Amino acid sequence: MLKVKKAIIPAAGLGTRFLPATKTVPKEMLTIVDAPIILYVVEEAVQAGIEDIVLIAGRGKHAIEDFFDTSYELEDKLLKDGKENLLERVTRIREKANIISIRQKQALGLGHAVLCGLPIIGNEPFAVLLGDEITMGFHGEPNVTSQLVKSFEETGTSTISVMKVEDKDVSKYGIAEVEETSRGFFKVTSLMEKPKPSETKSRWALPGRYVFDNSIMDILQSAKPTLNGEIQLTDSMKVLCQSKGLNAMTFTAERYDAGDKLGYLQANIELALQNPALGSELKNYILQLAQRLK
Ligand code: G1P
Repeated sequence: MLKVKKAIIPAAGLGTRFLPATKTVPKEMLTIVDAPIILYVVEEAVQAGIEDIVLIAGRGKHAIEDFFDTSYELEDKLLKDGKENLLERVTRIREKANIISIRQKQALGLGHAVLCGLPIIGNEPFAVLLGDEITMGFHGEPNVTSQLVKSFEETGTSTISVMKVEDKDVSKYGIAEVEETSRGFFKVTSLMEKPKPSETKSRWALPGRYVFDNSIMDILQSAKPTLNGEIQLTDSMKVLCQSKGLNAMTFTAERYDAGDKLGYLQANIELALQNPALGSELKNYILQLAQRLK
């Protein structure tokens, strides 16, 4: 049985749901409650048993890789700012996983970013986690990447997560056309990147969590740019679903689209409600606010 021990986390491009960030602060470094988005994403991978995490970062994204470095300056600053908790979280990651960074020298899209991870991935299967989405299994449930890894290790077939979206959101996502094989599990029959709602009957969108067998790398190596002049991961997944096969599954974990303005606010509120130091005060505030808004 093939085990999934590696993951690629591509830095976000200027996608359709771009949350403005300054030139010096990539959006993965924006804080949700008390940690940058990228830390939540890396923690999801580590919880799923991933040991080698490849960060793919392009121009202006140094802060992401720097964050995981052992750095006297950063650690001293975190301690001085009373952020021992954040330091503990980063230290835990460093103990459990290798963080490797690879530079994407040209902004040629998500498919190209994934291909940049090839020297580390080699012939092995791997997970892909998009760096601007946060997913969390609450109450002891496994997170989305853990669910995908389990499915891949049981079936040996590449598996992606899907979620139902409304008509108005179809053109923001990759969309999978599927046939249900059992409850919550599907065989993917086709895929489209950001179609118009009229171009597909499917409302199953790709929220940015994938586990692939290594053949996707061969497909990506010969992929040509399409939408926006970029090498789209979705196009290569379409080739995969028609060759070795591709499964999809829904998930039970919470998901926050932290790369979107509303999603970013929701992630802050919901994760702050789970935070022992903030939760009860924030809940009181929200209840009072709800009264005022009535
Ligand atoms: C990317 C992918 C798309 C996926 C989306 C999820 O698009 O290309 O298939 O559904 O992420 O966030 P982007 O948002 O980078 O434009």
